[in-house]
Amino acid sequence: MKRMMIAGNWKMHLNVHEGSVLVKRLNDHIIPHHSVEVVLAPSLVSLQPISQELDHRKFRLAAQNAFYKDEGAYTGEVSFTMLRDLVHYVIVGHSERRIYFNETLETVRDKVQAAVRNELTPILCVGETKQERAANETRRVVHDQVTTALANLTAEEVENMVIAYEPIWAISTFGGEISKPDDIQKVLELIRSCIGELYGDQAAKQVRLLYGGSINADTAAGYLALPDCDGALVGGKSLNYHQFSDIVEKAYHLQSSQRRTRGQDRKTEEN
Ligand code: 13P
Repeated sequence: MKRMMIAGNWKMHLNVHEGSVLVKRLNDHIIPHHSVEVVLAPSLVSLQPISQELDHRKFRLAAQNAFYKDEGAYTGEVSFTMLRDLVHYVIVGHSERRIYFNETLETVRDKVQAAVRNELTPILCVGETKQERAANETRRVVHDQVTTALANLTAEEVENMVIAYEPIWAISTFGGEISKPDDIQKVLELIRSCIGELYGDQAAKQVRLLYGGSINADTAAGYLALPDCDGALVGGKSLNYHQFSDIVEKAYHLQSSQRRTRGQDRKTEEN
């Protein structure tokens, strides 16, 4: 059974002190579960101090962004190479970076490659705007984002990565419309089948697909239970330790009940 991932994207919130206060609370509140991987993506300046305070049996760290060159005269940038010993994951192609920092399909592709080259796992974000959705272009947009970003990777590299579907219209800061889980399942299914066509069944089956967009403790289970959903990328509510711990617990309960169902199915087949 695949490990579910619940990742908290803190975005540009919490200074070093505030981040440290939240981490202390999360260390106390989150119970480690083998079936659920919990990832925190604080701001860049908080990564180092948080890495020292974090209970590494419970959490893994992610950076929110990095530059695709390994080193050089790129004032203000931080490379994937520099993050190698600090984080497991790097969020790549978040819609806020595509929109506010003009990241193109090609920039995102170069960042995915830089992550893989530096043995970091990208959490690739894809998703359409409200206008694209209204024009029935969701499938085309998401397909283009996925195929461009994964170009030149091996099936094994794709199999190990994480892709988050975050429809822009559902992200709290871009309007935060509440999405219907059935609609989300259709796009997750499309992403999986697109990977199947390009990289084969094994990669399609193993790649972890997350959903993100205004998830809270009340709505999380509806998305996490979708057949193609392997976790969540949580924004605003990851800053609230009650909400975030509750989302992690929801994931754990779902994983446990699915495991029980599978066990029962196996016993029925054996009898
Ligand atoms: P919200 O959960 O605040 O909508 O943010 C989602 C997101 O962008 C996570 O990366």
